Amino acid sequence: MEIVSNGSRPDLQGPAQAALRDGWPPFVLRGQVPRDCRAAVAEYFPRYDVLLLDDDDSVLARATAVALRWDGSVPGLPDGGYDGALAAAVREHEAGLAPDTLCVVAATVRTDRTGGGLAGRVLTGLRERAAEDGLSRVIVPVRPTSKATYPRTSMEDFQRWAREDGLHLDPWIRTHQRLGATILAPAPRSMVVTGTVAEWERWTSTAFPRSGRYVVAGGLDLLRIDRERDQGVYEETNLWMRHPVRATPA
Ligand SMILES: CC(C)(COP(=O)(O)OP(=O)(O)OC[C@H]1O[C@@H](n2cnc3c(N)ncnc32)[C@H](O)[C@@H]1OP(=O)(O)O)[C@@H](O)C(=O)NCCC(=O)NCCS
Repeated sequence: MEIVSNGSRPDLQGPAQAALRDGWPPFVLRGQVPRDCRAAVAEYFPRYDVLLLDDDDSVLARATAVALRWDGSVPGLPDGGYDGALAAAVREHEAGLAPDTLCVVAATVRTDRTGGGLAGRVLTGLRERAAEDGLSRVIVPVRPTSKATYPRTSMEDFQRWAREDGLHLDPWIRTHQRLGATILAPAPRSMVVTGTVAEWERWTSTAFPRSGRYVVAGGLDLLRIDRERDQGVYEETNLWMRHPVRATPA
C-alpha cells in the first residue's frame, strides 16, 4: 500500500470519488461553506489531500486537511468547527498568514475495508506531512459515527461516554485516541446544511409533513423543518480533538 497526494494522481479523482462515496449520508456533502471553499482548498492545500492505494492502485481510503493558525487554546479553536476551519484556512492563506496547525477535515475508508486500521494510516500520513512542513499542532473536528444513534443527546454529554477501559464508546473517537489524540471540546454549528423541504426529503428519503424537529438517518443532530418558509436546517455539533504531531500509537 502507498499514500499519494490526490493532486499528483489526477487519473484517480473519478475512481476515488466512486470508491468512497457510499460512506457518507448524502446531506453531509450539501453544506454551503464546503461548496464555496472546495476549489480554493484544492488549490491551496493539495499536499494535505491524500489517498491510500492498494498494490493494484485501487483507492482504499482518503483523508483531507487544511492548514491554519491556532493559538493552542480551546477558546481559540476555529469558530464554527468544520465549516469555520475551511473558511479560516482559505481566508488566512489569501491574506498571506503562515499557518502553524494542520486541521484534518475528513477521512473516509472504502466501505468493504473498514475496521482494518486504514483510517489510522491516512491520518498518520497527514500528521507526517504536518511535521515535515513545520506545523506544530494537529486538530480535528471529529464527526463521531455512533452519535447518529443518539441525536437527542448533547455533545457535552456524549463526549464523556467512556468505556471501562478508558477509551470512548464511539469507535471513530477511539481510533483518534489510539493515535494519541485527546478530546478538547464540542464544536457547535460545525456543519450547517440548509435546503428546501423537497431537497431534504430527497437527501434523506424521508417525508416531513409538518414543521418540527426530525431524526434523519446518519444525522448526529436533529433536522429542523419549517414548512412555512419551505426550509430545512441541519446544524451539526462535532467534537474537537487534538493529535500529537508525532506519536507512537497507544
Ligand atoms: C470512520 C471511518 C473513517 C473509520 O475508518 P476505519 O479504517 O474503519 O477505522 P478503524 O479500522 O480504526 O476502526 C475504528 C473502529 O470502528 C469499528 N468499525 C469499523 N468499521 C465498522 C463497521 N462497519 N461496523 C462497526 N464497527 C466498525 C472498528 O472495529 C474499530 O472499533 P474498535 O475500537 O472496537 O476496534 C470509516 O468507517 C469511514 O470511512 N466512515 C464513513 C465516513 C466517516 O464517517 N468518516 C468520519 C468522519 S470524518
